[in-house]
Amino acid sequence: MSTLDRYSMPQIVLHWLIAVIIIGEWISSDGMGRALHARLEGNTVWTEGATPHVWLGCIVFALILVRILLRWRQGAPTPVEESSDLMATAAKLGHLLLYALMVAVPIFGMLAWFGGIHVAGEVHETVGNALLFVALGHAAFAIWHHFIKRDGVLNRMRLSSGR
Ligand code: HEM
Ligand code: HEM
Repeated sequence: MSTLDRYSMPQIVLHWLIAVIIIGEWISSDGMGRALHARLEGNTVWTEGATPHVWLGCIVFALILVRILLRWRQGAPTPVEESSDLMATAAKLGHLLLYALMVAVPIFGMLAWFGGIHVAGEVHETVGNALLFVALGHAAFAIWHHFIKRDGVLNRMRLSSGR
């Protein structure tokens, strides 16, 4: 097991960069349903507004794959202490779910947009919204841990190396 007390700097930079781009993806997702319908009907003029969502989504997908590779090669610091084994398992499963959703969301988006598979768009929307809720819960837990339990969990993801 790892004895590090924080993630590696590349993992930390990727965590925040990916989080910011994902928020940008939610903001730019408005109107994507209409753009997909226009594209499926061959109306390319109406799909130009979709460019930021599509390309940022492809870029964040590549960054997510790099992040998973780094996580696999470099591991993670020893988990913070949880109040019970159940909470420790929940934290682990929560992180796993976030990774699974981060991979699934852009894959279904690409299947819809580049593959022209209409139903993939519906799945993309559903898993995209699930990612939003799980990430919000994750952020709330991190803040609760740091400020209420005072276990310094945010320091493990801090961009500056000082204490
Ligand atoms: C992590 C990255 C992404 C997130 C968080 C995300 C999020 C979302 C969300 C929340 C919606 C629903 C918008 C609505 O309510 O109308 C949406 C729609 C859509 N997104 Fe993404 N997206 C991502 C990546 C991508 C990628 C990579 C593509 C394609 C290359 C894509 C293509 C689409 C399309 C075609 C729709 C319309 C789906 C439909 O209404 O059937 N997205 N996206
Ligand atoms: C879209 C938004 C976000 C996503 C997808 C996300 C995803 C993740 C994932 C998958 C991990 C597990 C890292 C690993 O063990 O490999 C993680 C860790 C972490 N995240 Fe996030 N995160 C997001 C936003 C946030 C926000 C807003 C905060 C702070 C308020 C935050 C704070 C943390 C902290 C402190 C850790 C380390 C947890 C620990 O070591 O136990 N994250 N994040």
